[in-house]
Amino acid sequence: MLVLGVESSCDETGVALYDTEGGLLAHALHSQVAMHSEYGGVVPELASRDHIRRVLPLTRKVMAESGRTLAELDGIAYTQGPGLAGALLVGAGMARALAYALGIPAVGVHHLEGHLLSPLISDTPPQFPFVALLVSGGHTQLMQVSGVGRYALLGETLDDAAGEAFDKTAQLLGLGYPGGPAVAKLAAGGDPDRFNLPRPMLNSGDFDFSFSGLKTAVLTLQKKAGAEAAADIAAAFQAAAVDVLVGKSVAACVHAGSHRLVVAGGVGANARLREQLTREAAARGIEVFYPRLEFCTDNGAMIAFAGAQRLAVGAADGGMAFPVRPRWELAALEAVGG
Ligand code: KG4
Ligand code: ZN
Repeated sequence: MLVLGVESSCDETGVALYDTEGGLLAHALHSQVAMHSEYGGVVPELASRDHIRRVLPLTRKVMAESGRTLAELDGIAYTQGPGLAGALLVGAGMARALAYALGIPAVGVHHLEGHLLSPLISDTPPQFPFVALLVSGGHTQLMQVSGVGRYALLGETLDDAAGEAFDKTAQLLGLGYPGGPAVAKLAAGGDPDRFNLPRPMLNSGDFDFSFSGLKTAVLTLQKKAGAEAAADIAAAFQAAAVDVLVGKSVAACVHAGSHRLVVAGGVGANARLREQLTREAAARGIEVFYPRLEFCTDNGAMIAFAGAQRLAVGAADGGMAFPVRPRWELAALEAVGG
């Protein structure tokens, strides 16, 4: 089954072609980071307009690279939510219109399901069941995953997401947007032990997180220590955030009796997180699976892949409307495969 995937939920336009037999055939991405950076964050209206400009050229590029034609498509998947409404509408409108013109099914995909399943786009994918740590700009969740669409929430952040904490720390330290890679880069030249920041809720006994206090601690420290300490502050922040993510993830695996942990979402690109998590998990007999680095942040491949899983069992949108879901709970999804 040959499936085109379209991602347009935020500041990246991603298009990809996934074949359930041949795997990922082609993918292309346009990041709007440069356009939004002068505003210090994503401007929704500009994001929507840019998706309009990019989505068709990216689709043509993916088709050309794959050597396949639109007539060969069996279905089209697009991000239905959560995300920015106007941005989502661009991908949804394009995907539904193309599917209608080709007489093939289209299916709306949950963006976080895309992230969650992205480590499965691999020659050595993890088997179900597994525990998943979902760490993006908008979400921090630990899920028990027993199949496609079978997600039980173990815990989540009570306030800021992990990526949001990285982004806000970057702002406080005068770094650009998006903050995660900038903080990680600065932290690499800093001393993580010079300052000791709190590890919020590390020993709370549950699988919930809280990152807003950490951000406040960074602000207080930054005022006290001054600009020359920026690299050490970044390193201290990163060490604290990673300690909490690693500690909770390993505890969740032990609780669930799982020997497999999947990490997905933009913060999953963080080198310190990867290194520490792999090491501490291995000590407990847990294997950690990551998406390819380029598929940690938003991309079309994860949407094509997740959509293919659903289209393969007959899921398809009905009617002519293409409602998007800017807010959408992952645990509300329906299971695939009975
Ligand atoms: O998954 P994603 O691309 O978009 C959402 O669905 O939110 O995640 C973006 C988030 C941003 O907060 C960004 O700062 C963070 O992921 N991020 C990182 C790194 N790369 C991206 N955080 C820490 N270290 C990184 N290397
Ligand atoms: Zn995302």
